[in-house]
Amino acid sequence: MPDPVTPQQAPPGADQPPALAAQRSTGSSDIGRVLVEADRLQRRVRELGEQISRDYEGSRLLLVGVLKGAVFFLSDLMRHIRIPCEVDFMAVASYGSATDSSGVVRILKDLDAAIADREVLIVEDIVDSGLTLQYLLRNLGAREPRSLEVCALLTKPERRKVDLPIRYVGFEIPNEFAIGYGLDHGERFRNLPYVAALANRESLHRE
Ligand code: IMP
Ligand code: MG
Repeated sequence: MPDPVTPQQAPPGADQPPALAAQRSTGSSDIGRVLVEADRLQRRVRELGEQISRDYEGSRLLLVGVLKGAVFFLSDLMRHIRIPCEVDFMAVASYGSATDSSGVVRILKDLDAAIADREVLIVEDIVDSGLTLQYLLRNLGAREPRSLEVCALLTKPERRKVDLPIRYVGFEIPNEFAIGYGLDHGERFRNLPYVAALANRESLHRE
């Protein structure tokens, strides 16, 4: 079961390396309240890895990471998977505004190898409207994998436009623009070890 998140105010600098504490404590920081603390993230990623190892026991799993945001989650998740598994990546661009994807998706980088007859698990950072994932499920589904499932670190149920089968969910978060642990705003903040809300939502609409 996904872990619903109650937003919390973290004490500035708590549990963070000095550089990150400094980044958060500067008045100009765009980093808002913490949505998922680093230790909760790591605990949940471990649980997901263990669950996936049990569910796919005896099979040769292929993890498909969606660049770039999922890389951080995927590399941690993979270290908790105890069965033979391989990894491949796709990069997609979704047309739309800074905050809303349109569902029209362009493939920037395709998988290196065919997936016919493979057990495929798509690893995503966040499912927002669901339109990007809907496209990926159709596109990869047409390549006739033996199975095709989804593992998303975060979902924003309030924003969902399409109902999709997401087998593994890390956390459900409220309708906030999330940054950190792979998630970016203008390519920044992917390196945060926790997930936070972007403080200045207005800056989203300026781009
Ligand atoms: P969707 O098609 O609306 O589900 O969202 C597609 C992509 O938009 C996600 O895979 C993310 O890369 C990005 N995205 C959606 N919501 C957020 C967010 O809150 N923070 C950062 N990126 C996001
Ligand atoms: Mg993504």
